[in-house]
Amino acid sequence: LREHEEFTKVKNIATIELGRYEIETWYFSPFPPEYNDCVKLFFCEFCLNFMKRKEQLQRHMRKCDLKHPPGDEIYRSGTLSMFEVDGKKNKVYGQNLCYLAKLFLDHKTLYYDVDLFLFYILCECDDRGCHMVGYFSKEKHSEESYNLACILTLPPYQRKGYGKFLIAFSYELSKKEGKVGTPERPLSDLGMLSYRGYWTRVLLEILKKHKGNISIKELSDMTAIKAEDILNTLQSLELIQYRKGQHVICADPKVLDRHLKAAGRGGLEVDVSKLIWTPYK
Ligand code: ACO
Ligand code: ZN
Repeated sequence: LREHEEFTKVKNIATIELGRYEIETWYFSPFPPEYNDCVKLFFCEFCLNFMKRKEQLQRHMRKCDLKHPPGDEIYRSGTLSMFEVDGKKNKVYGQNLCYLAKLFLDHKTLYYDVDLFLFYILCECDDRGCHMVGYFSKEKHSEESYNLACILTLPPYQRKGYGKFLIAFSYELSKKEGKVGTPERPLSDLGMLSYRGYWTRVLLEILKKHKGNISIKELSDMTAIKAEDILNTLQSLELIQYRKGQHVICADPKVLDRHLKAAGRGGLEVDVSKLIWTPYK
């Protein structure tokens, strides 16, 4: 049994076709058994149905009437749009997205009930439709104050700032909910790099502008970043001192500037005035 399990976990699908991209996959994803013999899968970029052959996809594209993800468009700025998809209302879409995402996510078990999740799909839109560049998922109710379960930027779109946009977006939703949030653990290496970058930039920018003392609690209230993540970030930047039994933030402007420069580009900004959303109830 053990051997069989290991064997079935070997990456089977080597490439996928999605929209105008052919993408090499990274990891195993548990597609239904009838796809076990496939090395390539063809995805409809809008409904995310997947097929074994190109001709099937071409036939599908002639009758698929979606031109964007199902669900509500909750953000639009320029050519960027964000759609919110309820896994309960769009079960097949949610499942398809999980199969697709697992191809690029290593240590995540994605196959809980999609019913319990909302999916936030980021798209670049043109006259042919809204093309998914990435997404994140979020539990409708999280006991652990997770504001993001899984995050993915599709490989052709990586390193262009979309990951930072998705992370920033997840915190904007938390702010609207009046809650602090944190990503579900474990984080991948790329996930950790992206979060560290986001936390560093957001916190340093506040510290730079702020006059006088500021506490971790205040920073957390302003940013919706969980206090623990703030403490860890500032500690790794060596901006925390421990005095008389208390953590004190030491924000020498020169040191802040040096860290900010090292933190890299800010990425695509979320324009909160373009977010039209009310928390899930
Ligand atoms: N090498 C080095 N640093 C990188 C790399 C890389 N390949 N990719 C991202 N980074 C770091 C950089 O610091 C980068 O900032 P910079 O470009 O200013 O230097 C920062 O992360 C974020 O870059 P973005 O362009 O905003 O992020 P991107 O759109 O590439 O998305 C993401 C980041 C979502 C983590 C992407 O790499 C991805 O989808 N990876 C596969 C799936 C994954 O690992 N997801 C996270 C799992 S953990 C979780 O889901 C809770
Ligand atoms: Zn379709």
